[in-house]
Amino acid sequence: MSNSFIDYLLRIRIPVIVFVALASFAVTYYVSRAERDGVGYTPDQPINFSHKLHAGDMKIDCQYCHTGVETTRFATIPSTQLCMNCHAVARTDRPDIIRLTEYYNSGKPIPWSRIHRIPDYAYFNHSSHITAGIQCQSCHGDIQNMEKVGQVNPFTMGACLDCHRNPEQKMPYLKQVKQGPDYCWACHR
Ligand code: HEC
Ligand code: HEC
Ligand code: HEC
Ligand code: HEC
Ligand code: HEC
Repeated sequence: MSNSFIDYLLRIRIPVIVFVALASFAVTYYVSRAERDGVGYTPDQPINFSHKLHAGDMKIDCQYCHTGVETTRFATIPSTQLCMNCHAVARTDRPDIIRLTEYYNSGKPIPWSRIHRIPDYAYFNHSSHITAGIQCQSCHGDIQNMEKVGQVNPFTMGACLDCHRNPEQKMPYLKQVKQGPDYCWACHR
């Protein structure tokens, strides 16, 4: 290879490669950022399960289904078995309940689409927030009025910190308000 070709690479090709790398990084960054902001994301679900009907009208407690929320990091999605506690008898003639029963009999979990998510490198724990008296609605909005769940608030670092620094403004219903941490390693462990 001639020196002039290497010169050419150094002068022309490498900056082009660097440019392409930077541009694709920037695009990936902004696309993934938009996904993470997620506000408005309201996917169709495999079964038309209504929170308005179950948690709103019928007033079934959130924790009857989201059993992990007070004691673990994760709220958890209920198993089909739990639905069958009622739907072995309730509305068994409806198309959605027939499909629910098929999932149950097949032993396969229902492939619910996940809605709220933060990246793996950030640490969040439901139980420490719930035991501090924070209501689900302060982060997830009025789920009990939703026919179909969608994300209403951003789940960004800025949103976490906004509440941690202004808890009395975000949770006026709390008598004793504590600030949340804002040092980096609280959430990046
Ligand atoms: C009868 C069981 C049941 C009850 C009661 C219930 N949920 Fe759910 N919840 C589900 C199921 C099933 C899903 C997954 C399907 C969906 O998103 O609708 C879900 C999904 C969610 C999600 C979205 C999870 C994600 O993917 O990000 C949130 C948030 C949520 N529930 C909060 C609540 C709150 C708050 C209450 C009480 C006001 C509540 N739920 C009551 C069964 C229940
Ligand atoms: C505590 C009892 C109970 C539990 C637990 C429960 N449901 Fe229901 N669900 C009902 C009742 C009762 C109705 C009918 C309400 C009505 O029509 O007024 C209903 C209605 C429905 C409907 C609407 C059916 C139609 O087309 O009319 C769907 C879909 C449904 N449930 C799915 C689920 C799923 C999925 C779960 C588990 C995550 C679940 N339910 C857990 C009691 C329950
Ligand atoms: C302080 C804010 C906050 C509060 C309060 C809160 N959540 Fe969440 N929730 C989140 C965050 C953040 C995620 C995403 C977590 C992740 O990606 O690991 C999430 C995810 C979920 C999920 C889906 C994933 C999982 O953890 O299983 C469900 C279901 C859920 N929340 C239900 C609830 C319920 C029910 C309540 C009230 C009892 C509640 N949340 C209270 C912030 C909150
Ligand atoms: C609606 C208000 C609110 C939001 C939103 C919120 N937090 Fe918090 N958080 C608090 C409060 C208040 C505390 C302090 C609780 C205490 O000390 O009793 C806390 C405590 C914490 C702690 C320390 C306790 C523990 O679990 O180790 C961490 C970590 C944390 N939050 C992470 C997050 C992350 C990550 C997010 C965003 C995805 C978030 N929080 C969103 C109110 C909030
Ligand atoms: C209350 C929790 C919390 C605290 C405190 C916190 N972070 Fe974050 N951080 C998050 C969450 C959640 C995300 C992911 C969501 C997002 O990108 O906004 C994140 C994302 C990031 C990212 C990726 C940014 C991006 O846009 O891709 C960096 C870098 C970061 N944090 C650095 C820091 C540093 C440095 C500190 C201390 C000054 C800090 N964080 C404090 C919760 C926190």
